[in-house]
Amino acid sequence: MSNVAPRVAAFLFTMFFAVNYSFASEMKSVTYEKDIKKVVEVWCLDCHGSDAPTMEEYVKDREKYHELGKYPRVDTYEYLMVFINGEHIGALTKRLDDGKAREDHAQGSMYVYLGNTEDLRQANLKLFKDWIGNWVPKAIHEIKEEMESDWLSSVLEGTSDGEGETQSVDDILDDIRKDITAPEK
Ligand code: HEC
Repeated sequence: MSNVAPRVAAFLFTMFFAVNYSFASEMKSVTYEKDIKKVVEVWCLDCHGSDAPTMEEYVKDREKYHELGKYPRVDTYEYLMVFINGEHIGALTKRLDDGKAREDHAQGSMYVYLGNTEDLRQANLKLFKDWIGNWVPKAIHEIKEEMESDWLSSVLEGTSDGEGETQSVDDILDDIRKDITAPEK
């Protein structure tokens, strides 16, 4: 029972996003080859192209690559997946998000690159949402912090005895990963 609060929080979190977006993704069949690839080509590859480092290389020396103006490659389906359901799960959805579904309305840092007008940015964002299906506009550390603060509240309110540990980041990642099937190629 001690682990209930974070699990409930994770469940609610997943349900929230599943309800919001699963219907849209069932109806539309957005694919990487047909829709996403060209958006990425036009709007992302100046900084994230084939001349840029892989995420693995990038994290080893961010400073060097920032000086060169080169950021992790997203020029293939596989490289994009690293940020969708791979090791850096949540990084793409968080960065592309317009912030509207977040309490703090914080816009993702890549949202501005989705187009040169607000209409186009919204249209391209919708394309990514329909493609990915389960949209997570938060970084993993934010999700973890929220779950820990839910856990703390439940202890303070007396609805949990507070024993046991909150979920590890790996467990949280696993839970989220289960809800993101690989978007269609
Ligand atoms: C003008 C250059 C530029 C363009 C164009 C650009 N980005 Fe970025 N991107 C950056 C910079 C700078 C960072 C790192 C700074 C930061 O973390 O916000 C970054 C970071 C990222 C990251 C996170 C990498 C990490 O550290 O986890 C992702 C994912 C990403 N961009 C995706 C995209 C996508 C998708 C597009 C196209 C819609 C795009 N970017 C367009 C400059 C760009």
